[in-house]
Amino acid sequence: MPTAEHVILRELLARDPNWVSGSALAAKLDVSRVAVWQHMEKLRAAGFAFEAQRSRGYRIASRPAAIYAPLIETLLKSRPRNFSLVVLDEIDSTNDEAARQLAAGRPAPFAILARRQTRGRGRFGRAWHSASTTNLYASFAFRPRVEPGRMQTFTLWMGLNICELLTNFAAVTPGIKWPNDILFSGRKAGGMLTEARVDADQIRDLVFGLGLNVNSPVDGWPSDLARHAIALSDVTGSPLDINRLAAALIGRVLLAYQTFADGEHLKTFADLWHRYDLLRGKPIGLLEGGRRHHGTVSGLDDEGALLLRDEHGKVHRFRAGEVTLEKST
Ligand code: BTN
Repeated sequence: MPTAEHVILRELLARDPNWVSGSALAAKLDVSRVAVWQHMEKLRAAGFAFEAQRSRGYRIASRPAAIYAPLIETLLKSRPRNFSLVVLDEIDSTNDEAARQLAAGRPAPFAILARRQTRGRGRFGRAWHSASTTNLYASFAFRPRVEPGRMQTFTLWMGLNICELLTNFAAVTPGIKWPNDILFSGRKAGGMLTEARVDADQIRDLVFGLGLNVNSPVDGWPSDLARHAIALSDVTGSPLDINRLAAALIGRVLLAYQTFADGEHLKTFADLWHRYDLLRGKPIGLLEGGRRHHGTVSGLDDEGALLLRDEHGKVHRFRAGEVTLEKST
């Protein structure tokens, strides 16, 4: 349901960088110019700055540095039927909140985004640093009702789509480190965490979570992450418009989900994997179930398992594990 803030943003963005008169906004909203001014104050409180001139009206001077739901919704190119967006100031984990809302019966698909997480989680129960309001913490909720076996390449497919999105959005060159890391120059900018609830051999609830370092300050990392983490803004050299990125991300993730659900992803998966895979031909160590394996990555199988050639030429298949790149000998 569009609010007055949505309508004002739609008008201002459509004319940006030109002016929109206060009377035009008042007429659109069917309210007084004083009421328009009050709505502009709300938008200012959300982080917008406007130029205002009596004779010309308003225009946008700068946009919020943190996510803001009406702006993301206004920037969404197309909104699939039944899709809803929730933007929270703070939550324990957007994945947990999405799971709770699915369990409570909220219609899917929906996305939960938060400015901060107090218990952001990664794989193996590790913490995901979620203190900066200038990064994205997002979870997408679906009810696929398919057998679990069909979802094996889901996270990889989503990762490929996110790499494509970032390449197009910010003219950067990301790569995927199997199975869930998005890297730039060996440093992690994004991590994905897919979680499912299975019922009677069918995936009933599916949550795809993404943490993406967008504009976090270079010196904002805890010391243990400082050497390993990177933000998109470090790669581009200037801050990104986080709300425009969030809108583009939502569009891309929903489309990627649909392509996957229709089985159409198989047409492009191999090409995209070839483009973004960081491991093929590389010597790695892989930690799985407490054991460390070594070898050279020879590719992926149809189920998204990693194929590792050991020193004797034997190929081993891994469906899960933690990869570290090793030095070539
Ligand atoms: C990883 O690299 O191990 C995965 C990290 C996933 C982090 C995201 S942030 C949004 C969503 N909510 C969470 O608690 N985790 C995911």
